[in-house]
Amino acid sequence: MKHLSALNKYFYRYKFTFLIGVLFVALSNIFSIMPPQAIRYAFDLVKDDIAYYQLFSGFALQERFYSIFSRALLLFGVSVLLMAILRGVFMFLMRQTLIVMSRHIEFDLRNDMYAHYQKLSTAFYKRNRTGDLMSRATEDVIRVRMYLGPAIMYSVNTIVTLLTVTIIMFQTNATLTAYVLLPLPFLSIFIYYINSIIHRRSEEIQAQMSKLTSIAQETFSGIRLIKAYVQEKANVHFFDQESDEYRHKSIALARTQALFAPSMLLLVGMSTVLTIYIGGKQVIDGTITSGNIAEFVLYVNMLTWPVASLGWVTAMIQRAAASQKRINAFLDTPPDIVSPNNQAVQLKGNLQFDQVTFTYPDTQIKALKKVSFTLRKGEKMAIVGRTGSGKSTIAELLVRNYDIDEGKILLDQQDIQQLNLAALRQQIGYVPQDVFLFSDTINNNIAFGAPEVGETQIQQAAKDAAVYKDIIQLPDRFSTVVGERGVTLSGGQKQRVSLARALVKQPPILLLDDCLSAVDAITEQAILEHLSTYLADRTAIVITHRIFTSINFDKILVLEQGEVAEMGTHEELLAQNGIYANLYEKQHQETTA
Ligand SMILES: Nc1ncnc2c1ncn2[C@@H]1O[C@H](COP(=O)(O)OP(=O)(O)OP(=O)(O)O)[C@@H](O)[C@H]1O
Ligand SMILES: [Mg+2]
Repeated sequence: MKHLSALNKYFYRYKFTFLIGVLFVALSNIFSIMPPQAIRYAFDLVKDDIAYYQLFSGFALQERFYSIFSRALLLFGVSVLLMAILRGVFMFLMRQTLIVMSRHIEFDLRNDMYAHYQKLSTAFYKRNRTGDLMSRATEDVIRVRMYLGPAIMYSVNTIVTLLTVTIIMFQTNATLTAYVLLPLPFLSIFIYYINSIIHRRSEEIQAQMSKLTSIAQETFSGIRLIKAYVQEKANVHFFDQESDEYRHKSIALARTQALFAPSMLLLVGMSTVLTIYIGGKQVIDGTITSGNIAEFVLYVNMLTWPVASLGWVTAMIQRAAASQKRINAFLDTPPDIVSPNNQAVQLKGNLQFDQVTFTYPDTQIKALKKVSFTLRKGEKMAIVGRTGSGKSTIAELLVRNYDIDEGKILLDQQDIQQLNLAALRQQIGYVPQDVFLFSDTINNNIAFGAPEVGETQIQQAAKDAAVYKDIIQLPDRFSTVVGERGVTLSGGQKQRVSLARALVKQPPILLLDDCLSAVDAITEQAILEHLSTYLADRTAIVITHRIFTSINFDKILVLEQGEVAEMGTHEELLAQNGIYANLYEKQHQETTA
């Protein structure tokens, strides 16, 4: 239960709705306990008055007696109907308040979770699977909502009904009440038990279903590979097996569910039989009237659902508590990348890495060891090195996707951890190594980080990234939708669109991670020529596998297993005759060959 206390603040927000809802529950209960009493009166009235009626047989008075008698009965009938209507009205209002409240809280909770998710760091997303994040925001929230709405509504209803009905029953006849209530606890326990089985089976079915969906999803996205390797048959067979498993589980669930209603009716029936049997004996003894029996049968039926829901609600609350625990685990995760400063400053672009050492928190891979370099405003640096040498890590650290362990990263002489986080990221144009385009128009993809830019700036950025000509050949030009629902761009086109996305921000610092790897040499040349004018007074780091000679880099940094192996200008490094010179030599041979 302690996990669910996290929801109290939401209850507090909707306290009036909640209290009014409870009031409606009570009112609907009052109107449901009144009819049995009216019916008992009517029953006894009929029984007693029939005798009188027959007594007047043959007299004129009998007619009058009949009309009074029938009018009284009609009155009872109408009042029972009226109370049923009132009860219905209040039940409607009770759902309208309590269930509606649960929907509101569900909305608030899910939005709070989503907002919190956005604040969490890259490391968090590495630690947790996307499916897990999604299921907490969907399935778990739904379970919590079941607690907020139905569980609370039925609990309040059960408590009020149990209290009022048993009190009235005990007042009428204690012995009969004791007998009648006897089977009900068993009903409650039984339902709780069945419900746990049903729940366990549904969980299994749910898990099997998500397995099926992920198989299907992977098959569909890898369909080209499957066809190319002629694996359709094997795939169908595999799917068939899993699908069969799903069928078996569903059938098992259906069997349990089929048991549910009949067993419930059996237990209720036993209570009714007991009422009539024990009650009948008491009528013979003269302790109660036959009207009481009718009244009690109605009470028993009234108690069935609340008692049954006790077992159901308990299971529901347990599930909600487990879900809320999972939700809390994420909501209580503090964002690890924070900045104490909310003063946004305009950066110039003087950058310094000072003995930076970094280990990836989840894998314990030491990606950088004592890396130092300095770049003044407007200077350009290339980072080269073997795959896995730590090049992308430098970029990730600069935009603070991770925070460093040792050393310092300074921007304009200030520790980047002291800078306003949003302002820092805003002023770095970062093109990550793995290109990602949103399933949206090219326009919106390019203007992603700077929604305020106009048509001309977007087009200029596209020209600078040498992708303009490609775009205007697309069916809807800049309004073409790309990604999952749209046109598939080639690898190189995607890279250039994502380059344009960084350029359009006009940032003082540019960080390009291997963003031309899928572009042919001629296009690369064109982009680099454009870029050198664009980069004129911007600080830039270009991570690359190929050595560019068209940009005049002020510095070239050669990384080797996370350490700076060589650093200097192109000429200096060639003169050193080390790794860089070797690399250049090889590349030169390739291009001239
Ligand atoms: N998110 C991550 N979590 C854990 N370890 C990582 C992560 N990213 C990279 N690494 C590890 O850190 C080391 C450096 O990786 P990095 O991506 O910086 O290399 P790289 O020089 O960019 O390589 P490439 O040229 O292939 O892009 C590698 O050993 C890699 O396995
Ligand atoms: Mg990389």
